[in-house]
Amino acid sequence: MNKFLLLLIIISFAACSPTKKEVPQFSAQKMLDESVLKTKKTLEGLSAKDSFLRNIPENETEWKKVGVHDWCSGFWPGVLWYAYESSNDEVLKEGAEAFTSPIKTIAYNSAQNHDIGFMVYCSYGNGYRITGDEAYKEVLLSAADTLATLYNDKVGSILSWPEKREEYSHNTIIDNMMNLELLFWAAKNGGGQRLYDIATSHAEVTMKNLVRPDNSLYHLGSFDEETGKFLKGYTHQGYADESMWARGQTWGIYGFAMAYRETGKKEFLETSIKLADHYLERLPEDGIPYWDFDDPKIPEAPKDASAAAIAACGMLEIANLVKDDQLKEKYTNEAIKFIKILSSEEYYSGAKNQALLLHSTGHYPKNSEIDIPIIYADYYYMEALVRLKKLEEATAAKALAEKK
Ligand code: GLY
Repeated sequence: MNKFLLLLIIISFAACSPTKKEVPQFSAQKMLDESVLKTKKTLEGLSAKDSFLRNIPENETEWKKVGVHDWCSGFWPGVLWYAYESSNDEVLKEGAEAFTSPIKTIAYNSAQNHDIGFMVYCSYGNGYRITGDEAYKEVLLSAADTLATLYNDKVGSILSWPEKREEYSHNTIIDNMMNLELLFWAAKNGGGQRLYDIATSHAEVTMKNLVRPDNSLYHLGSFDEETGKFLKGYTHQGYADESMWARGQTWGIYGFAMAYRETGKKEFLETSIKLADHYLERLPEDGIPYWDFDDPKIPEAPKDASAAAIAACGMLEIANLVKDDQLKEKYTNEAIKFIKILSSEEYYSGAKNQALLLHSTGHYPKNSEIDIPIIYADYYYMEALVRLKKLEEATAAKALAEKK
């Protein structure tokens, strides 16, 4: 090509392109609106109300579904409840009700494991919080009693996985911290003091035995079920027993902050902050963790967007609880940073598939759900956006009041 012509093309292209890449102003409301629309579209294509979204396999665009007994069944109705809460759209409410309803069976069956908390609290818990429907309350109270049957008072904690007892004896996993919220809620709503005591003791035992001296976490603690003695820390979904599994760390950050909110025991908040600070210190530059912080394949290892979404919720919870303004600002800003990155082209799926978020990792050692969309990432992303939107509204209202 003629050199002059080539120069002309380059000059005209440069003139048309903005010199700096335009970064549109981030708004939780805008991301929520977009996510609500997408959720509604997904809902429209679903007929069976007793099969639940779980993941989108590599190179596919539609959700794979699972039955009501899958540990993830509560997340899709939870996404629908957040979408309804943000839009007041009756179609979303009907969808949320329809997908919540089949989960009732879990609350009245004997507890398979601690996941009953995720299944029932994300569905019925959000449903009750938003609608105040008394029928939902009854299901929640029953689910809390069912979860409490897994409590061992010699250890002082819930047996998280009865099905893995042979392998790990009395096991308590870090994920289980999240499901104490159901017990705390039930204790305040007619379920009785015992549920509060179980949840508090479980958090204390987890804090004492699963938090390591460097403020990373064991995924699983094994205990002697007769003497209550801590035997050994393990991993199940992480790279190694002593490694830092990303999602486990974020379950801990969120779980201990929630335990402080419910008990006022300051050691729980201190633990949550220590876990959060350790997580922040070790995060890669782009703010989204690799699935395990100690995988030797880093930086080639897959990321886990679900951990980033849970971390955002956990840090917003910490920000709500700390008194110090600088700490409030620190954890709010970190959470906003994660939500913005998750909302960028790299992680937000847009038109690529039915999910909201890309790049989550479920169970790497089992070679299962690696670097794909997983429903709980969408659930905690929606929760984070709803929390952030409320914060944006409160800040705007405060600014207006100060002006008057
Ligand atoms: N609670 C199971 C997981 O985080 O994968």
